[in-house]
Amino acid sequence: MARAGVRLAEDPAVRHPYPMAGICIYGAGSVGCYIGGRLLAAGADVRFVGRERIASDIRGHGLALSHYQGGHWRLPPSAIDFSTNAEVAKRAGLVLVTVKSAATRTVALELAKVLPPGTVVISFQNGFGHADRLHTALPGRTVLQGMVPFNVVTLGPGIFHQASQGALAVEAHVELAPHLAAFAFSGLPLSQYRDIVPVQWAKLLFNLNNAINALANIPLKEELSQRAYRRCLALAQAEALALLERSGIRPARLTPLPASWLPRLLDAPDWLFARLASKMLMIDPVARSSMADDLAAGRPTEIDWINGEVLRLAEQHGTRAPVNERLHALVHAAESGTTRRHWSGESLLAELLQAAGA
Ligand SMILES: NC(=O)c1ccc[n+]([C@@H]2O[C@H](COP(=O)([O-])OP(=O)(O)OC[C@H]3O[C@@H](n4cnc5c(N)ncnc54)[C@H](OP(=O)(O)O)[C@@H]3O)[C@@H](O)[C@H]2O)c1
Repeated sequence: MARAGVRLAEDPAVRHPYPMAGICIYGAGSVGCYIGGRLLAAGADVRFVGRERIASDIRGHGLALSHYQGGHWRLPPSAIDFSTNAEVAKRAGLVLVTVKSAATRTVALELAKVLPPGTVVISFQNGFGHADRLHTALPGRTVLQGMVPFNVVTLGPGIFHQASQGALAVEAHVELAPHLAAFAFSGLPLSQYRDIVPVQWAKLLFNLNNAINALANIPLKEELSQRAYRRCLALAQAEALALLERSGIRPARLTPLPASWLPRLLDAPDWLFARLASKMLMIDPVARSSMADDLAAGRPTEIDWINGEVLRLAEQHGTRAPVNERLHALVHAAESGTTRRHWSGESLLAELLQAAGA
């Protein structure tokens, strides 16, 4: 199949510098279309499984991918193998699961019917427990937990934009070896970790902002530029960090500063924060959290897998996490339309301080 929109030379040896073990993107939405599209643009053998509405967008427009620091990749419809049929996954050596958390159970059952033994599966989903759930349903396959650190924004039909920074992370495994070059060559190298749990927690600490961003209903950059919203995030993070310390989990260092310093940094006045955390504000001005997009589209959010995870940790210690509990409740109320959806920083902060008993 012709591979168009590729930044590479036409020499076939340059186009296929690694073994062509097929990759299937299972649940191709924002993250799946972006990562799969980047792999495809670099010459990897990629097929996508997803919904008819995305299939139709891609039939009409192909894929247009971009990166906030520059970089554009275009793939015409003829270059993209997109199907709504799970059977397509059975021809892949590597399957990337990129559905939202609530869909993992269904996907596990669908993949169990089609994946041959030996297939490698990576869950590139936020939250915890996805790889375990897939693993239980998929004996004989290698299931690994991954982590996508950056935001992907859907800008239009078939148009996906990487709006922030970070390297893909995955549990280290020898079975990944045949696929590493494809990721490296696409510009999205896989960083392997022996223990992925501290990496997942480090990401989850940032994802605690998803609820705040969804309730603020403004772009991430605008939200994080305002101290009152940052103080909301600092309260949620401080609560989670205290529980992690009690659990003996030290979140991985994904930023120049250790995770334990984040709440103090977030609390800084706007002018100082802009200076100290300029990288954190290097976000595309239109980007919002996927939770904000879910609320706007009337879809269920992933709140149970993000702030809900902090509540589960608190429960394990026989205690409570009142700030995350309040955010969890407010997002569920917003899902059902029983609370307002445009919280100012000051009103949300007052709500959370009250919950914390401060
Ligand atoms: N977006 C981001 O910036 C970002 C960044 C880092 C991590 N993540 C994480 O990555 C995961 C995916 O997020 P996303 O934003 O890419 O979600 P998304 O845009 O909703 O994409 C998932 C796609 O999979 C489809 N799907 C669901 N069940 C399916 C099934 N059984 N078979 C085929 N397709 C199915 C969904 O369709 P329906 O809508 O019909 O269910 C949707 O089109 C989430 O865990 C998210 O937290 C997202």
